[in-house]
Amino acid sequence: MQVIARPAELRSRVAQWRRAGERIAFVPTMGNLHAGHGSLVQQARRLADRVIVSIFVNPLQFGPNEDFAAYPRTPDEDRRMSESLQVDVLFLPEVEDMYPRGQASTVRVHVPGLEDILCGAFRPGHFSGVATIVAKLLNLVQPDVAVFGEKDYQQLLIIRRTAHDLSMPVQIVGAPTTREPDGLAMSSRNRYLTPAERERAPHIFQALERARMAVEAGVTDFARLEREGFSALEQAGFRPDYFAIRDAETLEAPTPQPGRRLVVLAAARIGRARLIDNVRATVPGG
Ligand code: PAF
Repeated sequence: MQVIARPAELRSRVAQWRRAGERIAFVPTMGNLHAGHGSLVQQARRLADRVIVSIFVNPLQFGPNEDFAAYPRTPDEDRRMSESLQVDVLFLPEVEDMYPRGQASTVRVHVPGLEDILCGAFRPGHFSGVATIVAKLLNLVQPDVAVFGEKDYQQLLIIRRTAHDLSMPVQIVGAPTTREPDGLAMSSRNRYLTPAERERAPHIFQALERARMAVEAGVTDFARLEREGFSALEQAGFRPDYFAIRDAETLEAPTPQPGRRLVVLAAARIGRARLIDNVRATVPGG
C-alpha cells in the first residue's frame, strides 16, 4: 500500500493505472476506520482493479459548536486496517492542499432542496461542506466508481445529486449499513457513548424497524408513525432531532402509493453523541 499526501502525486499514480487500462474505485472517509468502512472497501474491491481510500477530517462540514477538534483521529490503526484491506493507495491530504485559499474563500457546492432539510436543518452548512469536499476529491481522484455508506442516507443522495448535476463521470454506489449484533449502526461517533448510553443506543434502530414494519403492514398514517417514533426515542433517553418517513428517492413527504419506496430516518442526541440511522420500507401492494 502506498501512502500519498500530495494531490499531484496522487494524480500521477492514478494516471499510470489509467494508462494500464485499470478500473479505479474510491472510498472517501474521515478516518477512524471500523468494520463499516471495511465493508465499503470490500465493495470497492469487487467493483474495480484498484482501490483508493482517502482520510480527511473535513473542517468545512463541521459547525462552530460541533466536534471537529474532538473527532477521533487514529492514524496508526487506520493505516494498519487499510493495509489489511489491501487498499492500493491511502490518500491523506492536508487542509492547506484542500483549501489553499482558506475555508472562507473556497468555491462551495450547494444542493438546493436537499441540503437544508432533515440533518441539514440541525447542522447548517454541513451538507454544503460535504458536497464541496466530495466534489473536490472526485475531481482529484477521477475514479470510475465511488462508494459511500447508506447509513448517511441524506449524504448519499446529496453526493449522487452533486455528481449528476456537475456532470462528473463517476458511478456513485451506496453500500448497506454495517451493524453491531444488537442493531446499532456502526459509526465513529459511537465512541462518544458511555457504557450506559451504549446500552440504550440500539433503541434508534428498534424504533426505525417498528415504523418500517408498520408501513410494510399497510399503515399509511405516516405522521402518526413519526410521532410515535419520536416519542419512543424520548422515552429511551434520547433528545431526538427528528424521526421522519420520506420518499426514498427525493426525501420529500411520501405518498402511500402501493409499491412506493420510502426511507425512515432518525437523528438523536444522547450524552455527547449525535447518532443517525435509517431503514428502507416499501408501501405494500402494487
Ligand atoms: O461520510 C463521511 O465520512 C464524510 O462525510 C465524507 C463523505 C468522507 C466527506 O468528508
